[in-house]
Amino acid sequence: MRYRSVAQPPPKPRNIGQLKAAAASCQACDLWEAATQTVFGDGDGHARLMLVGEQPGDQEDLQGKPFVGPAGKLLERALNEAGIDRGRVYLTNAVKHFRWTRRGKRRLHEKPNAGQVRACRPWLEAEIEVVKPGLIVLLGATAAQSVMGPAFRVSRQRGEVLSSPFGIPIVATVHPSSILRATDEESREAAMSSFIADLKVAAKNP
Ligand code: URA
Repeated sequence: MRYRSVAQPPPKPRNIGQLKAAAASCQACDLWEAATQTVFGDGDGHARLMLVGEQPGDQEDLQGKPFVGPAGKLLERALNEAGIDRGRVYLTNAVKHFRWTRRGKRRLHEKPNAGQVRACRPWLEAEIEVVKPGLIVLLGATAAQSVMGPAFRVSRQRGEVLSSPFGIPIVATVHPSSILRATDEESREAAMSSFIADLKVAAKNP
C-alpha cells in the first residue's frame, strides 16, 4: 500500500518549531489515523545529547510530548543517576505516532514495522541536522536500527561509543520499557544498573 506524504521537513534553514509544525500533519504512513496526534521531539534544541526512543506510548499520545509516561519516569531516574539533566537533553522517537491495538478498554503498544520506521526517518534526520548533538543515545532496537541499519544488535554493542552514518557518535542501550518489564526485583535492579552505566558512557563523551 502507498501512503500520502503530505508533510515533509520544510526547506533549510529550519528549526525544531518549524519541523514540529510541519510534522503535525504527517500522513507518510498509516499510523496517523489511529493516533491522537504527532508526538514530536522535545527539549533543548541545541542539546549536546539527543536520546531517541521507539515511538510515543499511550500517555505520550494523549499529552503530545515524548517520554512522559512510565518509561519516561524510569528514564528520568536513570538520567539523574547518570548525572544527566533531563532539561538539557533533546528527547525524541524513531516513530512519531503511537501504534496500538485495543484490548478491552486499554490501548496496547505495538512495535512499529520497518515501513513505518522508514516513513518517519526524514523527521529524525531533520531533528539531528537541526540539533547537531555531540552524541546520540539510541534506546532499544527500533531506534538503533533506524539509525544504524537493520543488522545492528543492541545486545552485542550496547554501551560502546560507535560512529553513525550521520557522522555523530552514538551509544546504543536498552529501551527503558524493557526494565519495567523485568519480572523480579533483582533482575530489574541489575537491568537498571547496566542502563545507568550505558548512560554514563554517553554523558562522558558528547
Ligand atoms: N517509549 C518510547 O520509546 N518513547 C516514548 O516517548 C515513550 C515511551
